[in-house]
Amino acid sequence: TLYPVIMAGGSGTRFWPLSRKARPKQFLPLASKNPLITDTAIRLKGLASVKDTLIVCGPLHAKQAARLVKGLSKKNLLVEPVARNTAPAIALAAVQVAAKDPEGILVVLPSDHHVADVAGFKKTIAEAAQVAAKGHLVTLGIKPHRPETGYGYIQVGEGLEGGGRRVKAFREKPDTETARRYVESGEYLWNAGIFVFRADVILEAFAKHMPEMQKGLDALRKAAGKRTFASVLKRVFPKLPSISIDYGVMEKASNIAVLPGDFGWSDVGSFAAIPEVRPADEHGNVISGAEAVVVDCKGCVVLADKRPLTVVGLTDMVVVDSGDAVLVVPKDKSQDVRKVVEALKARK
Ligand code: GDD
Ligand code: MG
Repeated sequence: TLYPVIMAGGSGTRFWPLSRKARPKQFLPLASKNPLITDTAIRLKGLASVKDTLIVCGPLHAKQAARLVKGLSKKNLLVEPVARNTAPAIALAAVQVAAKDPEGILVVLPSDHHVADVAGFKKTIAEAAQVAAKGHLVTLGIKPHRPETGYGYIQVGEGLEGGGRRVKAFREKPDTETARRYVESGEYLWNAGIFVFRADVILEAFAKHMPEMQKGLDALRKAAGKRTFASVLKRVFPKLPSISIDYGVMEKASNIAVLPGDFGWSDVGSFAAIPEVRPADEHGNVISGAEAVVVDCKGCVVLADKRPLTVVGLTDMVVVDSGDAVLVVPKDKSQDVRKVVEALKARK
């Protein structure tokens, strides 16, 4: 059985003013009329059932997440008392799955990505599940097309007998120079941040590579399915180390397999990525929201649905009106929107 684990604890700041503390990126309808998290759940139809789908997130986002994934049962909503990054979040899900189905296969999915080719995505996940069933920690790899420094890179080795390829090295977020070398070499894939593994296999990997989590995980496993679980979680979870699955396990483990996939993946990293996930007009503008009016513009991203926003004669600019705040930024500087949030905080 496949158990989708939707990771929804992120607190992106690169989509301000659309994203706010209470409404991070995964809750925004950036790529379709649905919030990204809703499409993430829908995408799995036919492969996995909602009754086996888990969401892991923080208390501030639990209600929203549950509402946006239709049919999600309350017991499948795993609420972290505090954010501890992805390794503890995944461990929490693995403990739950292992309690009833030790060889159950977790499909770990970021809640805030876009996939254009859903059929291709499902085919890749089904293949990944077969490789994972044999005891591999499987990660999906995407052919890189720019020296992106916000991703992990996977150096691909020879093919494995049961499908997938061996991983020579796992390099999380290199600098620009290194990223350029990786892309040029043709030996590397982007890590999509989508992982597929058996519950028992990932728990074993945590024991081996993150022994500092063991005491906490043992306590959680003992309490799984019992009424005391919530209180044990509250006591134990804050003591777990704050570390990503990439640094904590993937960089260290040897039973990793990468499955190359090509399904129109985007992690929708900033406003500049919107044209990757939404159709543009014949001048390369993406105009979204009933109130956006654009004249003589090229390559712009214009979003407005609360009041009229008119933009004239601009090239490669992002203009966003959320109704209570406005952002104007050149497209190639849209990574820096995160600095706006810092500046606003400092002003208070
Ligand atoms: N529940 C929970 N708790 N979810 C979390 C937490 C947490 O503490 N921290 C992050 N997440 C969720 C985010 O919401 C996101 O969906 C996913 O886990 C990945 O976290 P990011 O913070 O977005 O990671 P990243 O983008 O820096 O890097 C990862 O993704 C890249 C691809 O988008 C890595 O796996 C990279 O190697 C990869 O290339
Ligand atoms: Mg991300």
